[in-house]
Amino acid sequence: MKAAQKNWQVRPERPEDAPLVEALTAASFGPGRYAKSAYRLREGVAPVAELGFVAIENGTLRGSVRFWPVGVGAEKSLLLGPLAVQSDQRGRGIGIDLMKTGIDAARAAGWASIILVGDEPYYTRVGFARLPPGRLVFPGPVDPARVLGLSLVPGATLTLSGQVRRAHIDEAVCADGAGVA
Ligand SMILES: CC(C)(COP(=O)(O)OP(=O)(O)OC[C@H]1O[C@@H](n2cnc3c(N)ncnc32)[C@H](O)[C@@H]1OP(=O)(O)O)[C@@H](O)C(=O)NCCC(=O)NCCS
Repeated sequence: MKAAQKNWQVRPERPEDAPLVEALTAASFGPGRYAKSAYRLREGVAPVAELGFVAIENGTLRGSVRFWPVGVGAEKSLLLGPLAVQSDQRGRGIGIDLMKTGIDAARAAGWASIILVGDEPYYTRVGFARLPPGRLVFPGPVDPARVLGLSLVPGATLTLSGQVRRAHIDEAVCADGAGVA
């Protein structure tokens, strides 16, 4: 039984974990990741520090998850990912464990919703559902069938609509007094 042995621990990511987390992400997604819409939303923006988690087993990093703040229309949301598990450790439940921990922490921190671009059959396991095609506009092409959302506050994803933007750019615009279009 592959999931019988749960010897890993999920704990918050620490600053010293960052090089390993980044190496795992690079190995899992390859250089093509930079061209993806989700990466454009992360460019130059820090992940939400308290929502980074790592799975550690026998002192070894097995997996990691991070979340980025984004703007969606007039609202704030979280972008889930990257989520990555060491290639020889997949299928043990580590990815689901990391996501559940991150989702619970996001809810506890008061975030209303999480969005992502990914495989629906996997992410439905932690409650994500496909959003209506065209409701969210990403900075680049995305397959509408892969645009998923999760409400942390009941109904939150029902009102999410519009352009998905990098969070810090919105803040800079607000600070200049120019407002958000
Ligand atoms: C996707 C990923 C994080 C899953 O991690 P994991 O620890 O293997 O996942 P879990 O063990 O928690 O879940 C495994 C289950 O999900 C299923 N699953 C995994 N990836 C899936 C996918 N893309 N679509 C549908 N089901 C998937 C597995 O078949 C398995 O099902 P089972 O329990 O019925 O056997 C891992 O495969 C990975 O790092 N992939 C490369 C990076 C990536 O694609 N990340 C996701 C995009 S952000």
